[in-house]
Amino acid sequence: MKICCIGAGYVGGPTMAMIALKAPSIEVRVVDMNAARIAAWNSDTLPIYEPGLDEVVKERRGKNLHFSTDVAGSIKVADIIFVAVNTPTKTYGIGAGRAADLRFIESVARTIAEHANGPKIIVEKSTIPVKTAETIKEILRANSSGHTFEVLSNPEFLAEGTAIKDLLAPDRVLIGGEHTPGGEAALQALVDVYAHWVPRERIITTNLWSSELSKLVANAFLAQRISSINSISALCEATGADVDEVANAIGKDSRIGPKFLKASVGFGGSCFQKDILNLVYLCEHFRLPEVAAYWEWVVKMNDWQKHRFAERIVASLFNTVADKRIAVYGFAFKKDTNDTRESPAIAVCRDLLAEQARVTVYDPKVPEREIRAEILGKDGTAAGHGAETRLTVAASPYDAAVDAHAIAVLTEWDEFKTLDYAKIFARMCQPASVFDGRNILDCAKLQTLGFRTHAVGK
Ligand code: UDX
Ligand code: UDX
Repeated sequence: MKICCIGAGYVGGPTMAMIALKAPSIEVRVVDMNAARIAAWNSDTLPIYEPGLDEVVKERRGKNLHFSTDVAGSIKVADIIFVAVNTPTKTYGIGAGRAADLRFIESVARTIAEHANGPKIIVEKSTIPVKTAETIKEILRANSSGHTFEVLSNPEFLAEGTAIKDLLAPDRVLIGGEHTPGGEAALQALVDVYAHWVPRERIITTNLWSSELSKLVANAFLAQRISSINSISALCEATGADVDEVANAIGKDSRIGPKFLKASVGFGGSCFQKDILNLVYLCEHFRLPEVAAYWEWVVKMNDWQKHRFAERIVASLFNTVADKRIAVYGFAFKKDTNDTRESPAIAVCRDLLAEQARVTVYDPKVPEREIRAEILGKDGTAAGHGAETRLTVAASPYDAAVDAHAIAVLTEWDEFKTLDYAKIFARMCQPASVFDGRNILDCAKLQTLGFRTHAVGK
């Protein structure tokens, strides 16, 4: 059995590494058109930071796990081809800002059709709009020289920062396929791959559209919980209730459950917003405006929360942050990843820069060029207001605090909980404030040091 995966990103890389680890008899090739990324996968410094990933890759690389740019050659030898290329939200034309941009999916389908020299099973790993399998099949049918293709949907549910844990012991593996003899056989082949380590009862098989839709719905439900608790955080701030206490109280109801109830500056990451917008677009397409509006509010609430957080900083700093330094602790969209896609820190930094603040960011894993590119855009002007001259990146949280009026904690990195805040306080302008966007700090303790503290929902 030979597997190839097109797209060596956050999803393709770790997923294939796990298959290689758990199914040593299967040869796994991960290919990408980005040669620099492939070179990184073959080096000591992997292109993505993910706890436990280094060990898995080192264990299998060069044995049954290979990273290469030879897309055509890998398609030829593979029995199963995973497609894990990115599917960003369209920024142009019809559906701009909502629909998924399927250009990479289409181009990969054409590449597969061109180089396939026998029957292949194509597995959609990328999150895609419902019915994309149909598109892929049509392209394959029209362009191949008579080979049979089966298309399966196998959405990924791993979360960044815990990808290896999630892959090792997934709550479920979902595989969608067609109820035809060919479809059933393909489905079974993929079930057999996962059955190397996942208990059979956790491998769910469905029809194609259910599987594709389930991915969008799972992310929409998770994000909805965060927007729901964040909406309540605003009410807590106004009334004196404490959002963590409310979350704890409602989460004890086994029908609600405790997970994904942490109020925050907002959710980020490459999936939540994109998938909800995808769902919204789908509902609009099928003339279900009420359903579309319902889900769209999950994203609107999230945007509001990010701006609200920045507004609270400005309001608490005597309604002006012009020329004040704000230290931003954390830029990744969550801890234990170097991924910054849709990180709430981007919006908060932009808002503060628009208020003429001087913003100094510290993140343990995100490099300076990435921070600048996310906030300022490729040409350096996205934030406007001459922001580029007021944005700096510090090498440590202590450096970031020098002359700062406030600290805004935007990622819940563990190291932020154990810093020497007395030392930090001494370096800051007085009065010194902390705005905890993740509710990870002991505010009572910080207050004894002299800090003014503000946490989400408190
Ligand atoms: C994944 C999923 O595929 C996406 O749909 C999901 O919603 C988020 O997670 P991810 O692995 O995070 O994407 O994307 P990324 O890290 O951008 O990796 C995609 C890779 O595909 C890139 O390295 C890119 O170079 C590669 N690619 C893209 C190709 O090799 N060929 C293409 O035609 C397009
Ligand atoms: C998510 C899904 O969890 C995963 O199943 C899917 O495959 C991809 O999308 P990911 O985006 O990597 O994973 O991270 P996740 O842990 O879901 O967090 C998303 C965002 O929500 C982060 O910014 C996180 O900080 C935020 N969050 C999460 C909260 O603000 N509060 C919470 O209670 C949970």
